Amino acid sequence: MSAKSHHKKQRYYARWKHYFPRDGNAIYSSSLAASPEVGGLLIQGDNLDALQMLRDNPNVCGKIRLVYIDPPFGTRQIFTIAEHRIATISRGNGGEVAYRDSLFGQAYLGFLKARLQAIREIMADDGSIYVHIDCKVGHYVKCLMDEIFGAENFINDITRIKCNPKNFNRKGYGNIKDIILFYGKTRRFVWNDVRQPIEVSIGDERFRAVDSDGRRYTTTPLHAPGETVNGATGKPWRELRPPAGRHWRYPPSTLEELDKKGLIEWSSTGNPRKKIYADEVVRAGIKIQDVWVFKDPQNPKYPTEKNLEMLKLIVSNSSRPGDVVLDAFCGSGTTLVAASELGRKWIGIDDSQVAIGTVKRRLPGGVFMYSHHVELERCRLNGQVG
Ligand SMILES: C[S@@+](CC[C@H](N)C(=O)[O-])C[C@H]1O[C@@H](n2cnc3c(N)ncnc32)[C@H](O)[C@@H]1O
Repeated sequence: MSAKSHHKKQRYYARWKHYFPRDGNAIYSSSLAASPEVGGLLIQGDNLDALQMLRDNPNVCGKIRLVYIDPPFGTRQIFTIAEHRIATISRGNGGEVAYRDSLFGQAYLGFLKARLQAIREIMADDGSIYVHIDCKVGHYVKCLMDEIFGAENFINDITRIKCNPKNFNRKGYGNIKDIILFYGKTRRFVWNDVRQPIEVSIGDERFRAVDSDGRRYTTTPLHAPGETVNGATGKPWRELRPPAGRHWRYPPSTLEELDKKGLIEWSSTGNPRKKIYADEVVRAGIKIQDVWVFKDPQNPKYPTEKNLEMLKLIVSNSSRPGDVVLDAFCGSGTTLVAASELGRKWIGIDDSQVAIGTVKRRLPGGVFMYSHHVELERCRLNGQVG
């Protein structure tokens, strides 16, 4: 680094340090101190520098419980807003540029890798990260994630249905999905197991049987596919063996308990089945699977704005009230709105003036602007690309 650019960088860090004093809870400004449980920090600038600054702050480093990022996908497109209409154009002619997605190939992966490494450093050990990406680069990004977070910390590759079926004249199938890679920093990641609500109507055919106390129920087999060679679930229970090629869902001691509690129904031929009560199914909800339908908003406020309900699901599942949620490519601030509505603290970073303006409109009050020389950072980024 030349003496001149070193000097520039020092000046730049000095400016940031002003905003991140090391004492107390200084990450949140004085008005946030009045309600320390919620609130946020909005940073305008290149996220690599912002992340390095956050790493140097002991109030933040190691305390980020949840990260969601939706970086550019290496599409070589320019996203603009013209007269309140969102447009995607491949050449910048007309409209205000919201952001440029100009990196691709190795330069793109290098850009993302540096940011993922910086993010990992500031995450809490029980934190997790969701990386939203498209199918063209998703598999390369999965390799990066395995390298940085460890393949052993991979949790899910979520398919997200993003739009209605398309009828474009395209040689190939319509693309209506993108992907979200979900990793823990460690296997101790926070997980609230949020369930999808379910309704069971009175006429539901599955719950035809009625108990002596009037509760409706159905029954399911007590065995599952696959033989257990040595474990308890392969052992006979009351002289009954699981059918060939199957094992008991529970060890015999648990089966005994279930039977004592009246949770097993015996057929006239002596076949045991587990009772599943309709009211318990409703109370427990359904386990959420790895294919999600969260279509992008019809009238977005910002290009590539994501579905708020999807972000609420992520925030609810992977953080607790009062935790800090980070979006280092925050765009219009969908993650920040979700975090704010769910009582989490948030940190948003974006280098686009349009994005910052949109976040401020979506989150009036409690939003704090920390601006710096975007131009300086653009020079740096261009240097990296070239
Ligand atoms: C796909 S958009 C995010 C959209 C967002 N999820 C939403 O719901 O509105 C990606 C964002 O990353 C920002 N961005 C790209 N490179 C960046 C960088 N190096 N530093 C900070 N922000 C960056 C862009 O300005 C853009 O707003």
